[in-house]
Amino acid sequence: MISKQIFGHLPDGRAVEQISLINANGMQIDILNLGGIIRRWLVPTPSSEQVDIVLGFDTVEDYLADQAYLGALVGRYANRIKHGKFTLKETRYQLDANQGGNSLHGGVDGFNRRLWQTSVISQALNPSICLQLTSEDGDQGFPGQLKAEVIYTLTEENSLRIEYRASTDQATLYNPTQHSYFNLAGHQSGDIDSHQAQILASHFTPTDSNAIPSGELAPVANTPFDLRELTPVKVGLASSHEQIKFGSGYDHNWCLDGYRADLQQPFFAAMALETQSGRKLIVNTTMPGVQLYTANFLGSEPIGKEGVSYQGNGALCFETQFYPDSPNQPHFPSAMLEKGQTFYAVTEYQIVL
Ligand code: GLA
Repeated sequence: MISKQIFGHLPDGRAVEQISLINANGMQIDILNLGGIIRRWLVPTPSSEQVDIVLGFDTVEDYLADQAYLGALVGRYANRIKHGKFTLKETRYQLDANQGGNSLHGGVDGFNRRLWQTSVISQALNPSICLQLTSEDGDQGFPGQLKAEVIYTLTEENSLRIEYRASTDQATLYNPTQHSYFNLAGHQSGDIDSHQAQILASHFTPTDSNAIPSGELAPVANTPFDLRELTPVKVGLASSHEQIKFGSGYDHNWCLDGYRADLQQPFFAAMALETQSGRKLIVNTTMPGVQLYTANFLGSEPIGKEGVSYQGNGALCFETQFYPDSPNQPHFPSAMLEKGQTFYAVTEYQIVL
């Protein structure tokens, strides 16, 4: 089932809609046409109370003030591009360097701040909506007019399937992600100490102190980045490893072992387990990398949903992606999209109750 309501208004008067996808198991996901934001994710519990497992805000103003991309679709290029510079087809481009001298998450006015056109694809068993956005040639410094489409489907298996498609009229970069902050104990829980994480990756991309990859694909063995078995997140966060210090926690890209170019169906990439409830989040994707971000820079402003003040390390993000700074690292899988090609990627977040 799908229901819609007005969530609020942008300063220019345009309405921000909230669309709820509800399945037969009592799971409900509320999505905004602003930034394609996943605002609430309610899961049923044995006591028949629902638990909201993502962080979010209660007003449009708070989303516009947010610097942490809570629940948003990110584009055109998720994560960082060094100094905002890259070369495509022998042309040099300069993006807006909006964070620490680098480009982050598509620039100041990224896809997370846009009002997307929405339409309902299916009301029935697997409620599904389509979001569309046209990003003009030169938007935030990126070449080519990009037509982007994202389909969100809540399945009977309690999975949110996110399908990304795009086309362009000129070679460009496209690296979309979803930036949900999960706390499987509930958004109000404060910390992620009861969470374990697993990522099926034998290598990761170490960075400098500004979170830009050195280019090395480093083995995870004997480091806090070895999450090939489920591991308590707090063990890694407490480590004195230089990379953990650089990121102020986990804020790194893992090179997923299951990735192959041109995958149409997602593979099992990562999961999290909340040990008290036994709730699990399973992440399947067709993308080559995943950024595990332990909300290291999350601050208490704006105040979160229901007056909850969020804190650093209060959530986990699994941002499926091309590796950071891939346009400047020829041996990383390429995020280039050419005229005439259709970009296609899928990421699924499945909740196991
Ligand atoms: C990503 C980045 C982090 C941070 C968050 C948003 O996860 O890697 O460094 O910028 O987005 O706050």
